[in-house]
Amino acid sequence: MCYNAVDRHVESGRGDQPAIIHDSPVTDTKRIITYRELHHEVSRLAGVLVKHGVKKGDVVVIYMPMVPQAMFTMLACARIGAPHSLIFGGFASKELSVRIDHAKPKLLVTASFGIEPGRRVHYIPLVEKALELSSHKPHKVLIYNRPGVEKVTTRPELSLDWEEEMSKARPHDCVSVPANHPLYILYTSGTTGTPKGVVRDTGGYAVMLNWTMSSVYGLKPGEVWWAASDLGWVVGHSYICYAPLLHGNTTVLYEGKPVGTPDPGAFFRVMSEHGTAAVFTAPTAIRAIRQQDPHTEYGKKYRLDRLRFLFVAGERCDLETLQWAKKSFGVPVLDHWWQTESGSPITASCIGLGNSLSPPAGTAGKPVPGYNVTVIDDEKHPVEPNTLGNIVVTLPLPPGAALSLWQNEELYKRLYFTKFPGYYDTMDAGFMDEDGFVYIMSRSDDVINVAGHRLSTGALEECVLKHPGVVDCAVVGLEDSLKGHVPLALCVLRHDYEKNTDTLLNDLIRLVRENIGPVAAFRKVLFVRCLPKTRSGKIPRSSLGNLVNGKPYKITPTIEDPSVFKDIEETVRKHLSGR
Ligand code: COA
Ligand code: AMP
Repeated sequence: MCYNAVDRHVESGRGDQPAIIHDSPVTDTKRIITYRELHHEVSRLAGVLVKHGVKKGDVVVIYMPMVPQAMFTMLACARIGAPHSLIFGGFASKELSVRIDHAKPKLLVTASFGIEPGRRVHYIPLVEKALELSSHKPHKVLIYNRPGVEKVTTRPELSLDWEEEMSKARPHDCVSVPANHPLYILYTSGTTGTPKGVVRDTGGYAVMLNWTMSSVYGLKPGEVWWAASDLGWVVGHSYICYAPLLHGNTTVLYEGKPVGTPDPGAFFRVMSEHGTAAVFTAPTAIRAIRQQDPHTEYGKKYRLDRLRFLFVAGERCDLETLQWAKKSFGVPVLDHWWQTESGSPITASCIGLGNSLSPPAGTAGKPVPGYNVTVIDDEKHPVEPNTLGNIVVTLPLPPGAALSLWQNEELYKRLYFTKFPGYYDTMDAGFMDEDGFVYIMSRSDDVINVAGHRLSTGALEECVLKHPGVVDCAVVGLEDSLKGHVPLALCVLRHDYEKNTDTLLNDLIRLVRENIGPVAAFRKVLFVRCLPKTRSGKIPRSSLGNLVNGKPYKITPTIEDPSVFKDIEETVRKHLSGR
């Protein structure tokens, strides 16, 4: 097969239909790209990649902000069978270097800068630092210079300028690949600090995504769709880029935030102005709008005539947020559940299949066809309805689910298929009711969800432990009214460490920002006498998580010194109460 969706749409008469609407309040610009223009850009960019030695199977790393050029690059890679690995812009150089070393890209594509409220994120220094840290070096670095400011370059032997290259580019045709050829590698967090590169296939994924646009999201080709996420996450890969374009929809690429760009009416404006039929976002974005504009004074100014549905995912959606969103946007708000590994929803209310538009409160819907979801206990026995357990999927997995982990098939098998043989272990815990609705409650591994971003507590701990004053550390999720959870580090200091704790706190925040990135939203540390450990040296993170959030927690008999919990409770009471 070959990845020719854009060509197909042009041939079948969609050439003049907008394919991408780039709405960028941070630059105060809007650009509409038709399917014909998209074809032109993508086929020529594919020519540039090939000219610089990228062949079928070579990896291309993409580190770019929310600009259409990031999507052109993804699609140009797909066109020539070069798996891309797009790294979220909120990760720092160290994380980028780890991924470069693991993915070993032939080429790296980046941009001069991204724009976050109040600051520019200069990508070139970040890339240069990452390349200093990594032992693998790409052959070339292609730089898209954003208009209106002086051009930037990197080392002359590496640097390619986007505009210059595109001005002399020759279009390249689609390259044929087997259906299970890797389309992309998407790094995600797991239990350890080592990133896991989820490998997505080409054929099955395309079939699944195209099907979900009508069956799950209830859209017709030609309608406008907006996934308000970032291209760096799975939602961005699947539902900003690939699915809407496969299905012949217009996709909105939004370079802004729910609030502050310029106000909490931004989402309403985008929906109204572009006539979106359905929108997908994370509950945290809705919470951000609600906190700043509880009575939708800003939102009310816009008519949402074409909006039919709002979908939420990425984290558990609390009922207040769900109700508020229903009232404010005036459409059914449907929670659905999925993971980087699945690439598309595992449970949902499938609009196109006639599922209810008002499922019971708190559910993330029913299993999507292809996913045989079961809830089992630790002994692998199915549990009764409404009983909390491990959520697993009976094998085989449907098309589009992770094919493997990049260069680590062994870890793929061990991680997902060993604990519960015959099932895919989702590592989420929850329950199913008598009618088959699924409720997702928490992760059963050491992953925390911060503002819809999946973070490894292991990676954060490794980072904090780099500080010479810290001898032990456990990171847990502290409940937060905006972000759902934020990381909290419980740190044990070296006994002779004398620095003042305020300075130390700032050092630790800087360390995490520079090593993992601002996306970790790491700002909270508690200094404790020691951490509870089991006799085999494990830290009971889930008990600690409950403790810091004021919930009942378990002290298992294997804990060496249960009194440590009391000490930590005291510290929490002193420093976190009234936060
Ligand atoms: N490049 C560089 N830095 C970035 C970034 C990017 N692409 N995205 C976020 N950051 C930075 C932010 O500027 C912020 O930095 P600061 O500490 O200096 O303020 C930090 O990372 C934390 O960002 P975040 O927690 O995302 O907060 P925010 O205020 O930038 O955005 C939301 C709030 C709600 C818009 C955002 O969290 C969001 O979109 N979440 C949903 C995620 C999602 O779509 N998940 C997929 C499932 S649907
Ligand atoms: P990610 O791989 O970054 O998309 O994160 C996937 C994880 O986010 C899942 O394993 C869940 O823990 C959480 N998640 C995603 N969608 C939902 C949802 N609708 N309800 C509850 N948790 C969710």
